[in-house]
Amino acid sequence: MRGMLYKKPIADLQSDLESDHHLKRCLTAFDLTLLGIGAVIGAGIFILTGVAAATQSGPAIVLSFVLAGIACAFSALSYAELATTIGGCGSAYGYAYVGFGEIFAWIIGWDLILEYGLSCAAVAIGWSAYFAKFVTIFDWTVPKTFLNSFLASGIVDVPALAIMMFITVLLTLGVKNGARVNAVMVLVKFITITVFVAVSAPYINFHYWDNFMPFGWKGVMGGAAMIFFSYIGFDAVSTAAEEAIQPKRDLPIGIIASLAICTAIYVVVSGVLTLVVSYNTLDTASPVADVLLRLGHASAASLISVGALAGLTTVILVMFYGMSRIMYAMSRDRLLPKFFLHLSSRFRTPTRILWASGIVIALIAATLPIGDVAELVNIGTLAAFSIANLGVIVLRYTQPDLPRPFKTPFGITLPFLGIVFCLYLMLSLSWITWVRFFVWMLIGLGFYLYHLHRKDRLKG
Ligand code: ALA
Repeated sequence: MRGMLYKKPIADLQSDLESDHHLKRCLTAFDLTLLGIGAVIGAGIFILTGVAAATQSGPAIVLSFVLAGIACAFSALSYAELATTIGGCGSAYGYAYVGFGEIFAWIIGWDLILEYGLSCAAVAIGWSAYFAKFVTIFDWTVPKTFLNSFLASGIVDVPALAIMMFITVLLTLGVKNGARVNAVMVLVKFITITVFVAVSAPYINFHYWDNFMPFGWKGVMGGAAMIFFSYIGFDAVSTAAEEAIQPKRDLPIGIIASLAICTAIYVVVSGVLTLVVSYNTLDTASPVADVLLRLGHASAASLISVGALAGLTTVILVMFYGMSRIMYAMSRDRLLPKFFLHLSSRFRTPTRILWASGIVIALIAATLPIGDVAELVNIGTLAAFSIANLGVIVLRYTQPDLPRPFKTPFGITLPFLGIVFCLYLMLSLSWITWVRFFVWMLIGLGFYLYHLHRKDRLKG
């Protein structure tokens, strides 16, 4: 019987790959980088930037993005090290299983289900709002009853439900298909952002930066905490470890390149936004489109809606993909019912997991107003990042001789700084988020103690 502190030997991951339950290797470094960009650029830049600039950082939102990007880089390096040293599709769940033992793995797996599942639901609701805006180009309107949940003056959010089910079908057909759709949509995002920068560039006026840091360093840090959401997603690349053709070489490339590219894009977009209008006028739900409208470019503003839709679609796609792979790794370890340990014989995808969780997320997105639930995504992610950083430090001491195809530079300094940053951001979240997070974790712990540990394993 495996105890609560049982640590999974890395060799077992190898036998997972040789079992009947292994996933199909088909993703290149390029696919992985695009998956990372797909997961990262979405609601954060298209929705949050304006509020963060107007209420927290001012034009120094650029510095907030740089700081948050550097801080995420510490965690990204840790993910890259663990993904190549330990591998497996379970991401931080799998690393915790090897580094800390089963009960910690379960807790972090439970946490990741919250992070990934809720981010899909939250972004699906944002998608629905942008969809309603987009169809007005054709003079159509989505009736309010089918745009909002019954808790928010409607009946059911049909576009949110539809996009979630569409992504479920797409991922059922195979990750390679998902990766192709992702690549096309990432291209649409790039085009949209390029159009925004090109159209706005002639209006750049540096006097908007005269009062560069109106809220001081405190504002810069507050802004960094707010826009942290924009960076969530690069960790999902590590869930593709089993489907990468050359994981040891390509995962670090995918994780670090996607983070670097996204940081550069964020700095440019937020810089241009605050150089063409005054920062205190940016407090809107669609700042990028609104700025173009104010500059008199209505058709370019419409294009932004298309880009935002594409952006939000890929975030849901990659986050849902990541969640399904983590749940699959947990099923393979018998921490989820055996029913889920099933691959479609035709597509070699975990169809039962995809459909069971896809329907649950679609129902959440269609019926609940998301509001501050999105903060739960932040806390869940920060907890997972902390575990990944801690995992690097612990394994450096407990298993110093492990082959590490990719090693974070400067010893344990960067993972340590990663933990400090994650804790700092976690402490800046509201107490109600902490309460909700603890409730979710306690439910998970109760489940583990009663159904998993006491009965040893879920038999299905
Ligand atoms: N980083 C993702 C977004 O901004 C979650 O939508």
